[in-house]
Amino acid sequence: MAVPRWAAAALALAAAFGGLQARVQPAAAAHVPFSSPLPIPPVLTDQDLTITMQQADVQILPGAKTKMWTYNGMFPGPTIRRPSGQPTRVTFVNNLPAEAGDATVHHHGSHSASSEDGQPDDYLIEQTKSRTYTYDFVEDGKPERAAFQWYHDHRMDVTGRNVWKGLAGMVILDDPQDTALDLPSGEFDVPIMLADRQFDAGNQIPYTFDPNGLRASGVGGHVLANGAAQPFFDVGDRRYRIRLLNASNLSDYELELGGGMAMTQIATESGLLPKPVQRTKLRLGPAERAEIVVDFDGLLRRELVLRNRLGFGPAAELMKFRVSRDLSDDSTPVPATLRLLDPAPVPTPIDTRLWVLGQSLAGDLIWTINGRTFDPMRDDTIPFNPRRGSAERWIFVNTTPVDHLMHIHDVDWWLTGRLSLEPYDADDALAEQGLKETFRVRPNEVVEVVSRFTDHLGPYVFHCHILEHEDRAMMAQFRVVP
Ligand code: C2O
Ligand code: CU
Ligand code: CU
Repeated sequence: MAVPRWAAAALALAAAFGGLQARVQPAAAAHVPFSSPLPIPPVLTDQDLTITMQQADVQILPGAKTKMWTYNGMFPGPTIRRPSGQPTRVTFVNNLPAEAGDATVHHHGSHSASSEDGQPDDYLIEQTKSRTYTYDFVEDGKPERAAFQWYHDHRMDVTGRNVWKGLAGMVILDDPQDTALDLPSGEFDVPIMLADRQFDAGNQIPYTFDPNGLRASGVGGHVLANGAAQPFFDVGDRRYRIRLLNASNLSDYELELGGGMAMTQIATESGLLPKPVQRTKLRLGPAERAEIVVDFDGLLRRELVLRNRLGFGPAAELMKFRVSRDLSDDSTPVPATLRLLDPAPVPTPIDTRLWVLGQSLAGDLIWTINGRTFDPMRDDTIPFNPRRGSAERWIFVNTTPVDHLMHIHDVDWWLTGRLSLEPYDADDALAEQGLKETFRVRPNEVVEVVSRFTDHLGPYVFHCHILEHEDRAMMAQFRVVP
């Protein structure tokens, strides 16, 4: 008996559909949200450390491993945790493949001597060679303030590529003033590096330079938390200190926990705020950090998603906190005063510098500071360089249509003015009342910061921390002179 026509058609359709299914199904096993635990990178605490830069196959998504350039074979690299005021030497060995070229490591947030700062085109680490960086963690005769910092590659023109491929790790600097506050510590003090990557069907993350910046978009795009896609983290019903770093090349996050739960921000990238800031959402641009205390008390058996309000669909759900452990809390509530802020230095008019952020569309898109692109042979602080110990006022003006995240090496800054056409988020503004070293400058906005260069002499850079803007070539050099 002949197969009815409709049945044959249905079978053909089913076969075609099945074939199609088989073709779009990636070779890798499917990623299941919230099915793997949040990795916590190993913590290195010795005074003398060795970290090797090497290519490694890292398990990030199910299935094929991802070929990355790493510190010690992992992404993120190991976390360095040291007491402030004690010298620390880190030897970095460059065993990267030949195409990586020379390397340089910037300890972002550290008050390092110029030679130890990870200069973009000087003191480079040649292939197969190593270099020891010495950090004294002293500022102005006192131990440096505790802060949540990080380290990453900083090679001129290719920082975006090198960080995208995996060269980034976290640093925690402790000081007695911070530890005396009895905030959650040990396993209840959790550093989290957020960084997005675009994966191909073979789980690889090829890098293609885009002067606008690179980010994950659409299918294969993942925001990684400590190198994992949508992990879960089992917590107890108590207070936690959560240190958040945006290590992305371009992406911004506006974070929200459990649909608007209270987060108490206690620190910026430059350490403790004068007073805690209560908030329900938190914006982090590239290189910015925020530390929050979250109390999971009374939430046993609840699950809370850390969401990015700027993301879409599954890419918006970054990780899940599962309150699964019945614990008692030995930490004290966050005090009303965290660390008093010294009064901001008062610069004279001649120590005021204006930095105009611009772009040139003639030919390829390039990003400029005062009309120029980065040149390590040139100091951009003409007519004179900043003098050690004197107060400086820096004014950034953004004439481009996109945000820039301006990061200044060497010292931390007081924000003394933000002049905008559009209102600035009130909670974000409160959190800017502490010291910072990376500042969002929006289109048509003027941002004024003040500080004083202490201790070290010599050249340092400042730049936009959207890494492709930095690479093309929104970076400038200043030289601290006696
Ligand atoms: Cu995190 Cu000059 O950079
Ligand atoms: Cu830096
Ligand atoms: Cu920029």
